[in-house]
Amino acid sequence: MRNQQAIRSLFELSQPGRRGATFPVPDVPSQPLEQLLPAEQLRAAPPELPELSEPDVVRHFVNLSQLNMSVDTHFYPLGSCTMKYNPKRHERLAALPGLADVHPASEPSQIQGLLQMLWELQSMLAEIAGLPAVSLQPAAGAQGEFTALLIAAAYFRDRGESRTRVVFPDSAHGTNPASAALAGFECVQLPSSPEGLVDLETLQQVVDERTAVFMITNPNTLGLFERDILKICEFLHDVGALVYIDGANMNAILGVTRPGDFGGDMMHFNVHKTFTGPHGAGGPGAGPIAVRDFLADYLPGPVVTRRIDPETGKDVFDLQTPPRTIGKVRSFFGNVGILLRGYFYLRTLGPQGLRAVAEHAVLNANYLRSRLEPLLKIPFGERCMHEFVASASEHRKTRGVTAMDIAKRLLDYGFHAPTVYFPLIVPEALMIEPTETESLATLDAFAQAIARILQEPPETLHQAPLTTPVSRPDEVRAARRPVLRWQPPNATSTSTAAEKTTAEPLQETRSP
Ligand SMILES: Cc1ncc(COP(=O)(O)O)c(C=O)c1O
Repeated sequence: MRNQQAIRSLFELSQPGRRGATFPVPDVPSQPLEQLLPAEQLRAAPPELPELSEPDVVRHFVNLSQLNMSVDTHFYPLGSCTMKYNPKRHERLAALPGLADVHPASEPSQIQGLLQMLWELQSMLAEIAGLPAVSLQPAAGAQGEFTALLIAAAYFRDRGESRTRVVFPDSAHGTNPASAALAGFECVQLPSSPEGLVDLETLQQVVDERTAVFMITNPNTLGLFERDILKICEFLHDVGALVYIDGANMNAILGVTRPGDFGGDMMHFNVHKTFTGPHGAGGPGAGPIAVRDFLADYLPGPVVTRRIDPETGKDVFDLQTPPRTIGKVRSFFGNVGILLRGYFYLRTLGPQGLRAVAEHAVLNANYLRSRLEPLLKIPFGERCMHEFVASASEHRKTRGVTAMDIAKRLLDYGFHAPTVYFPLIVPEALMIEPTETESLATLDAFAQAIARILQEPPETLHQAPLTTPVSRPDEVRAARRPVLRWQPPNATSTSTAAEKTTAEPLQETRSP
């Protein structure tokens, strides 16, 4: 049974006079405050702080922490987000005082160890990408996209070419057009083929000398490898455009193939996905980019460089700003805490281990796909890479059961929901990415849960989840007008009208 202490705020749990600590009787004479402080610096009334015992506080926070789902507590098949297990060893290593306590403004000579790791990370990412120059600065995949598009704009400006368009398939992640628009480009959407892939002929009709960049995710968001990628990149290069590879799905191809080898000119990594940085709830992340040599001078700085000290013969690591840099996109060297977790992950696995990651991710996804195929329509592809997109459209037509109903009910069965309603080209989409870190037993249990859910009465499913403190919030309002400040119900507060409106509950909370 859920403990009320998780659901009620500390202010509501407060009991007058309750304390978590007692102070010793002072062994020096004490004086009234009025004699120590000027009258205008004294409060008229004590602050309204919650009064609680230590166990009250501990139980509140521990219970609160268990209201949410996480990779550490549940299977989390959130397609496109690669919610793989975050090894605790890397947490521990990244938290070592010699790394975690480094001041980012330190002189490079004082932080050679950290700079060496970042240099090695740059080199490993360049190797995995098949692209020689890396900047660790961007703090998310989306920021990596934006940074690369600014680089493309600067590159074409220097060449005196006016290229104003960015083209992307209709299966693209929303951040692709958003980054393009933010970087000042006109967005052109390319319809996918009936197989869910980029069709070369359609692409040829859309791309022309106005095209600066073609953004493509490979494998794409349907979990399918773009089999014409070589021809696609060749065609784009023939018309003088650049190819951007959205690397969010690198988990499927690590050590198997490289974006630079199949024609990409620029790409980002999502360290928080592919290389196990813990993520969720908006951060933290790291989205380093890798580019071809002719774009290296435009990278945001600083980048870490290595040289040999002629006197000692030892490696020296420096920070350098590339000569035609587009400028900084993040402070210092990027989100170092997450980058280091990625570094340790890469060093732990090595090249063979990385390839095994991709192979197991693809194997797990295909196993789950085949378990779910009799239950849910899978409109594109006969097999998949690291993820697949199922559709609940038949269930919606015949019984009124939507992808949202299934996703919400999964929470009652102890599974995090898959990504829903993305990509947009699949109606009632359930995008499922199990990752390589899940066992056969977990995959089977998930498939059984879906089978049971689909046998339940639609009315039950419409009301799901039935076991969570909040069931179906108004998601648009929750995102656009988040309630960030708790207010007591009878507050005679000084809050603005806007704050008062946002404090209205988005939905009644359930009694446990
Ligand atoms: C295909 C794809 N591209 C780009 C992104 C953006 O990455 P980030 O969330 O790190 O900004 C995502 C995120 O889910 C994604 O799935």
